[in-house]
Amino acid sequence: MTSLGIGLIGTGFMGKCHALAYGSVKAVFGDVPATRLEVLCDVPAEKAEAFADQFGFARATSDWKDLIADPKVDIVCITTPNKVHKEMALAALEAGKHVHLEKPMALSLEDARQMLAVAERTGAKTIVGYNYLHNPAISHARKLIADGAIGRIVHFRGMVDEDYQADPDLAWTWRATKADAGLGTLGDLGCHLISLATALVGPVESLVAET
Ligand SMILES: NC(=O)c1ccc[n+]([C@@H]2O[C@H](COP(=O)([O-])OP(=O)(O)OC[C@H]3O[C@@H](n4cnc5c(N)ncnc54)[C@H](O)[C@@H]3O)[C@@H](O)[C@H]2O)c1
Repeated sequence: MTSLGIGLIGTGFMGKCHALAYGSVKAVFGDVPATRLEVLCDVPAEKAEAFADQFGFARATSDWKDLIADPKVDIVCITTPNKVHKEMALAALEAGKHVHLEKPMALSLEDARQMLAVAERTGAKTIVGYNYLHNPAISHARKLIADGAIGRIVHFRGMVDEDYQADPDLAWTWRATKADAGLGTLGDLGCHLISLATALVGPVESLVAET
């Protein structure tokens, strides 16, 4: 295959990152298929039209099922609020698409396992947006660990320092509503830390937790 068609659902903070990244994949990684920015979906339709124009997508839609059904779309990239991840990802998988899904993957372990089972059945390529894993500092840490440069590891301590929601004047977002975000800070930020711990010193064998 010489190129892969991208369908992007959601054009907020992360959607913009993904749109920029997909436009640069070939330039950065070289020996990979080129990407075509085919369909951009957001709501309302005017927003989708504006962002499709801004990011260079061939067409816009406000109906994510229309995006998934488009034969020009090979990879469905989902950057919508957490509560709709499962429904959109399952629909994309069942339509035979590859799926690039933002974290957190799902709002429950049961849902995540269901999504995994469908992905395995369809044979799609899937990835969840743990984008810190390829941060150069993390890659270097992984190499040091693999090379044995810091010896046998007996302890991992991680911390996420982000205060972007601490501002009392910040406008409401879906993240502040349990029905939309689901998992609070643990799901929003903690999942990055777990992905890093898993990649650096995993797999996790047992857990002692406190909230
Ligand atoms: N990997 C990371 O580092 C990282 C960072 C930030 C956010 N995220 C994840 O990305 C996802 C989106 O977060 P965000 O900060 O970009 O949110 P956001 O609110 O900025 O953007 C969400 C977008 O989805 C659109 N949308 C909502 N419902 C839709 C629907 N039914 N159809 C089409 N579009 C719809 C909204 O209009 C909005 O443009 C979340 O799951 C979040 O956890 C990941």
